[in-house]
Amino acid sequence: MQYNFDKIIKRTGTKSYKWDDNFEKFGHNDLIPMWVADMDFEAPPEVVKALRKRVSHGAYGYTKRPETYYKVFIDWIKKKHDWQIERDWIIDAPGIVPAISFAINTFTSPSDNILEFSPVYDPFFNTVVFNQRNLILSELKLVNGRYFIDFADFENKAARGIKMVILCSPHNPLARVWSPEELKKIGDICCKYNILIVSDEVHSDLIFSDKTHHPIASISEEIADRTITLNAPSKTFNLAGLLTAAVIISNNDLRSKYARTLESHGFTTGNLFGIEAFENAYKFGEEWLNELLIYLEDNYTYLKDVLKSETPLIKPTETDGTYLVWLDCRDLNLPQSELNEFFIYQAMLGLNSGTQYGKNGEGFMRMNIACPRKILEKAIDQLVLAYKNRGF
Ligand SMILES: Cc1ncc(COP(=O)(O)O)c(C=O)c1O
Repeated sequence: MQYNFDKIIKRTGTKSYKWDDNFEKFGHNDLIPMWVADMDFEAPPEVVKALRKRVSHGAYGYTKRPETYYKVFIDWIKKKHDWQIERDWIIDAPGIVPAISFAINTFTSPSDNILEFSPVYDPFFNTVVFNQRNLILSELKLVNGRYFIDFADFENKAARGIKMVILCSPHNPLARVWSPEELKKIGDICCKYNILIVSDEVHSDLIFSDKTHHPIASISEEIADRTITLNAPSKTFNLAGLLTAAVIISNNDLRSKYARTLESHGFTTGNLFGIEAFENAYKFGEEWLNELLIYLEDNYTYLKDVLKSETPLIKPTETDGTYLVWLDCRDLNLPQSELNEFFIYQAMLGLNSGTQYGKNGEGFMRMNIACPRKILEKAIDQLVLAYKNRGF
């Protein structure tokens, strides 16, 4: 390994959400935070070097994105996801969640129905509800440890009038990569009922070795024609604080409407450090990512093995990628509030409560395992001890 993911970086005192907000979120500071989706690793050294160089320049005026910025992104998407996108299709955005909200505001009207597959990354709910649209949920079904779309339910709801589907692909918090067949079925239903697709693919580079991510817009031209794809280097390279994302729309009419919304909100330039990091990450980050993926998959295997032998009532659902593990804790037979307290006050771990992602997250917890192995080992030791002390 060329890169050292074992290195422990002190993140407290850096205004980190994950490390500096524990008291506010969990009521005490004495826990290992494994919640918000960023990683406890340094970004690729080439990115850090480029940022240092830019900081040392001292003048931080308005900054444009050079053509090389788009080229490295286009090359990355082609190489990693076998999808040929064009320069003109790309629009800049300050983040994935804002980009979802812009899409909602551009293509739907108040009271329109927007569908999401739950449990799902919770800011998805707010983008719909806070924009006065009507949130329709289609619940994912857990079958033998793996989640599936209930296509009968989805089509039933689609037939009753849905304007937009917001897809999380790969899916957070379930760590599920959708197969080409599943994506085609989603796309076909959207074509049949004239539904736009917003596909959040921010986790698409974090895929385990035996799985492949497929952008839904790459499935067919007909599907691409109604799809707004969102991507960013923020999860892949741990750059979430730099707020720089890309929106890909091949349909000219949709794209010009979307671009107008961004302009109307004044998003015509970007964050200069975000621009620098974006370009250098996609240009130089591949080897770093390859090693990261090995490390994350090893972390997942370690977690899975220890839980299986030491805490058999806590079961990770099948994980295809990302660094978020969805723990099925239903066999502990605790109401959600007690389950949360067990993790916070007995295991001394800061995880996300399953119900944050929807009602059907009851009995589950989301664990972020993007941390050095020593921290993960300590966290799991604490969990095992708490489990045994509690007599489960
Ligand atoms: C699926 C998904 N979309 C979007 C985001 C946030 O993206 P941004 O910070 O660019 O709004 C996250 C962060 O956890 C995420 O998991």
